[in-house]
Amino acid sequence: MLGFRSGQGLFAVAVAVQLAVVSAAFFEPFNVSYDHRALLISGKRRMLISAGIHYPRATPEMWPGLIAKSKEGGADVIQTYVFWNGHEPTRGQYDFKGRYDIVKFAKLIGSQGLYLHLRIGPYACAEWNFGGFPVWLRDIPGIEFRTNNEPFKIENEYGNIEGQYGQGGKEYVRWAAKMALGLGAGVPWVMCKQTDAPETIIDSCNAFYCDGFRPNSYKKPAFWTEDWNGWYASWGGRLPHRPVRDNAFAVARFFQRGGSFQNYYMFFGGTNFGRTAGGPFQITSYDYDAPIDEYGLLTQPKWGHLKDLHAAIKLCEPALVVVNDSPQYVKLGPMQEAHIYSSERVDTNRSLSESTSICSAFLANIDEHKSVTVKIFGEVYSLPPWSVSILPNCKNVAFNTAKVGSQVSIKTVESGSPSRSNKTEPGELLLHNEGFFISSTWMTLKESIGASGNNSFTAHGILEHLNVTKDTSDYLWYITRINVSDEDIAFWEEMDFLPSLTINKTRDVVRVFVNGHLSGSKFGNWVPLKQPLHLVQGCNELVLLSETVGLQNYGAFLEKDGAGFRGQIKLSGFKNGDIDLSNSLWTYRVGLKGEFAELYAPDKQKNADWTDLKLASLPSAFTWYKNTFDAPEGDDPVALDLGSMGKGQAWVNGHSIGRYWSLIAPETGCSKSCNYRGAYNEKKCTTNCGLPTQSWYHIPRAWLQPSNNLLVIFEETGGNPLNISLSVHSTKTICGKVSETHYPPLSTWYHPDFINGKISINEVAPQMHLQCDDGHMISAVKFASYGTPHGSCQNYSLGKCHASTSLSLVMKACQGKNNCTINVSNTIFGDPCRRTVKTLAVEAECASVTDNKMLLGSW
Ligand code: GAL
Repeated sequence: MLGFRSGQGLFAVAVAVQLAVVSAAFFEPFNVSYDHRALLISGKRRMLISAGIHYPRATPEMWPGLIAKSKEGGADVIQTYVFWNGHEPTRGQYDFKGRYDIVKFAKLIGSQGLYLHLRIGPYACAEWNFGGFPVWLRDIPGIEFRTNNEPFKIENEYGNIEGQYGQGGKEYVRWAAKMALGLGAGVPWVMCKQTDAPETIIDSCNAFYCDGFRPNSYKKPAFWTEDWNGWYASWGGRLPHRPVRDNAFAVARFFQRGGSFQNYYMFFGGTNFGRTAGGPFQITSYDYDAPIDEYGLLTQPKWGHLKDLHAAIKLCEPALVVVNDSPQYVKLGPMQEAHIYSSERVDTNRSLSESTSICSAFLANIDEHKSVTVKIFGEVYSLPPWSVSILPNCKNVAFNTAKVGSQVSIKTVESGSPSRSNKTEPGELLLHNEGFFISSTWMTLKESIGASGNNSFTAHGILEHLNVTKDTSDYLWYITRINVSDEDIAFWEEMDFLPSLTINKTRDVVRVFVNGHLSGSKFGNWVPLKQPLHLVQGCNELVLLSETVGLQNYGAFLEKDGAGFRGQIKLSGFKNGDIDLSNSLWTYRVGLKGEFAELYAPDKQKNADWTDLKLASLPSAFTWYKNTFDAPEGDDPVALDLGSMGKGQAWVNGHSIGRYWSLIAPETGCSKSCNYRGAYNEKKCTTNCGLPTQSWYHIPRAWLQPSNNLLVIFEETGGNPLNISLSVHSTKTICGKVSETHYPPLSTWYHPDFINGKISINEVAPQMHLQCDDGHMISAVKFASYGTPHGSCQNYSLGKCHASTSLSLVMKACQGKNNCTINVSNTIFGDPCRRTVKTLAVEAECASVTDNKMLLGSW
């Protein structure tokens, strides 16, 4: 493994580049180089599919399964950033354990036979706190981030902001390239989005589409280092979704037009545990609408459709690598085109001659509205709108990006207690769990507002938030005193108005307290604040609580951005004019008392003054709650439903499961239906309008013990802990719909009889494949019809034509199994209606193997 001799070494080599494709070298060393077409591994050109997985966004216990699911889905490579602030949270103190055991992660990738694309950053962006920079970096004398500055020199996606650094930016890029190459790592280096990358470094594309991307030199291959197959969400925002048919179209177009390395950002997004979420306002879930969801479950049909796509692309690999220059190009229509990769020039007007052994073709219809039929190789092909057909042998269609044969899965969220009534809802609907609440009795403890304890200090003027907290906590208290005369009081009464506090700019959240009572709150990214105040005669205590909600992770001049307040802080509306508080004497306190007492730590419970929660005290702001709970049975992923709470943080057995905030997404702007056709952007196909952006918070199984799990919650605004519930996530309903005219399974292409020419692809029946989550099996077949069924998943109905054997045959093939495969043909079902195209539609239910045993036992 390169670059990981020690923590110190890694960061000493921090550069503005990414280390491309490190082999699983400790198993089998081989050469990695490149030419203008592709990466060469042991001298051979490769077409590579890469899956983005960020190791600290899952637990080490989840890693093997995530890597295996990526591999099964067709990935050759796993890509990750290195998160510097996770590895060196305090200067000189390194952490390479647990979720930060990157060496273990790399070895697991190698042991499954995959490659690793390592993005050493350490500037990551990645919706990760401060873009991966340790906050202590700001304190290094003379430092300027992301430019030609001696104390600095590190990077990612620099081209986006380079212009803002002028000449320094250009010099910095050259320095970074030289430095990286000077390491003699023996593998190629990549700079993404770097149009001026030096000749010796591969520049690459990060975007929703990269088929038009050309590297800055003919000598370099086309790499797509971030294919945004989903998007992130912010507190109070909608949830983005990228339709898989569009994503598959984009990927097929990329390989069609000469691409050779493509990475899904993210194949598994995971969770921003602790305070690792970036900012401002990135949510705790980093699900990203990825093919593997936050909990490690497959998102279907996304995962399955991409798996088929990858298999089809892999079938074309021999042809894709054989072409040295441009593929053969045929314009098939105004918005239709073919690219043909072949060992020799082919006559595209007729079927391929026997002697042409290697030929693959991609036929694209980029018209968003119309299906078209095109003629090539002496055959007619029908192309749905916005789709690509892949013909590995320049004759048969192995795959079309718009025709989904893979199953659809509907995830459900069930109560964490099997003994209570179950509630099932489609995974995307954030509905409240009326079933099982963790407990009706809780312990509680009040957090103190303002100055208290001995860790406060005073200073004249307003100190910048991060300079004071060093990001050891989200919270910083600013406290000052205001003297109010009886004349002022009389003046306000007479004028019938209230004095107010104004701050020119604030971020991320500010709460204003007067004499211990909350006057108001505001959140935003450098937004002005104007807050009317109820002041009393004499001395008033004004407390401003400044909160960060994830430090800025994107952009230039990050070290100067800071947090808290900017500009003037003043009181207006006083009889004798405004009072400027900007230079007053302020008392400062970092963090919460409960944070310093580690109220969330199992071994610190004895020291804390927890008392029984009285119903009458709810809702209560700035309050700690605790409870214990038993882990739900089985192995299914677990989440905490905090939809009843306001804003805060939660810990289970001392592990922070992240920030929570029940901010509601806008009522409007979600799409009722999602049209995959046409260029995607993150605003298209959003869901979750009018609901909290996030209400389920993942508790990794590895952090749970069978019983007596300590749950501690810090709540800022109110909320009702009595309605907190546990949920178990799994795939409950699976559906498939495959017609006789669908293409045969991709595996046919590897069948010896097909390779030997004994069977033609047209003789092989399409298949339906159904699969439950690991540890689950098909417990019931709810619907099965081979004929002309109508509707979609959870809504199927029989059509005019229906084979009466459908249900029994599907039950026989599937019931009691984790997965099953059924041929979609008359041979299996008999022909229920001649000269009609038949379709098989199935809806089945999955149940965990443990539940099923219970079920069978009770029969
Ligand atoms: C890219 C960046 C990634 C991530 C992504 C959005 O520009 O390189 O780290 O932030 O945007 O999810």
